[in-house]
Amino acid sequence: MRVAVIGAGVIGLSTALCIHERYHGLVPSLEMEVYADRCTPRTTSDGAAGLWQPYLSDHGNLQETVGAGRASPAVLCRSCMPARAPLGWAVSPPGLLSHNGTAIRFINELGPFSLLQDPSWKNIVLGFRNLTPKELELFPGYSYGWFNTALMLECRRYLPWLTDRLTQRGVKFFHKKVESFQEIFAQGVDVVINCTGVRAGELQPDPELQPGRGQVIKVLAPWVKHFIITHNIESGIYNSPYVIPGSEFTVLGGIYQHGNWNEENSAQDHKTIWENCCRLLPALQKAKIVEEWSGLRPARPWVRLERETIRHGHFQAEVIHNYGHGGFGITSHWGCAMAAARLFGSILQEKKLASPPQPRL
Ligand code: FAD
Ligand code: BEZ
Repeated sequence: MRVAVIGAGVIGLSTALCIHERYHGLVPSLEMEVYADRCTPRTTSDGAAGLWQPYLSDHGNLQETVGAGRASPAVLCRSCMPARAPLGWAVSPPGLLSHNGTAIRFINELGPFSLLQDPSWKNIVLGFRNLTPKELELFPGYSYGWFNTALMLECRRYLPWLTDRLTQRGVKFFHKKVESFQEIFAQGVDVVINCTGVRAGELQPDPELQPGRGQVIKVLAPWVKHFIITHNIESGIYNSPYVIPGSEFTVLGGIYQHGNWNEENSAQDHKTIWENCCRLLPALQKAKIVEEWSGLRPARPWVRLERETIRHGHFQAEVIHNYGHGGFGITSHWGCAMAAARLFGSILQEKKLASPPQPRL
């Protein structure tokens, strides 16, 4: 059984690992290869802040997307224990970073009065509570907010770690652009896992998939210890300032431009981010700018996570799509990887190659 994963961002690598961990040994001679024209540190996943935090509005399907308590922070933290090390998540004391780029940090989210409603996922995250009026005084202009503990997953460390694990398991990597699914099937591949993010439309047209352009400024500001994420209903999702401290830099955002394919940094967006974030946290004015980055969120009304049978000459071949994670790909990656692995199991069952293993993290 030959499996080709297209994409080496957080979705492609985690899906490859999840499937390999689950089915290697169960399926006779499972061979896996990963194709990608951009690898770490040049994927969208590498540039992202790396916060495990769902969107404010999740269309009600978020619990399903993140695996309804199976890939939630609480479960992921438990799975970080050394005994479960194969998964590679590690618990660290608050604010400290572990060897593979995961950490636990604290977060404040703020919104205008019109948002006076707790998010649907408040019971999934750790330690959710509303900000007190005294705490809100620290953020003039905001009348509502909450605090929770969040998991942090910095892909510049996490993706090399996933790549190493896959390489150790014998998975082969090909640094190249795939022009079509047929090109891969012609090589004798049985199942393609499509994790091509915002560029999935190049392999199969998908009008629902659009870029959600973002830009961030990375600064040195070690005195920033808490995340601050704001929401502004008028300017749209992630088009309002956020400050996210990481292991090396603090990431300042946010820009969200639907339909904009431009990956160059914009001077106008720089000004918007800088002014808005300094207004939110005036101490940032002293921070040294070390990097600026623009990336395209694979925005879609829903994540495309499904099987498709594609005809190839006289044969038919299987594709599992796993793309369109918008601004929550890091948040949802392991839940989606598990769902993709279940789809892979259904293909094996139909081909009478294996019975589905018990789900585990
Ligand atoms: P990518 O990382 O873009 O990977 C796609 C892969 O597919 C690449 O390897 C590419 O080379 C490959 N590929 C595509 N087409 C082909 C082809 N034809 N042939 C070969 N290879 C191909 N999410 C969070 O959960 N938390 C955050 O804090 C967060 N912050 C963000 C901040 C910003 C500014 C932005 C822009 C996004 C943020 N996100 C965040 C969203 C997150 O970055 C994405 O959802 C996630 O990176 C998508 O991962 P992916 O693997 O699908 O895509
Ligand atoms: C974003 O810019 O897409 C983003 C920022 C913080 C958390 C999640 C997503």
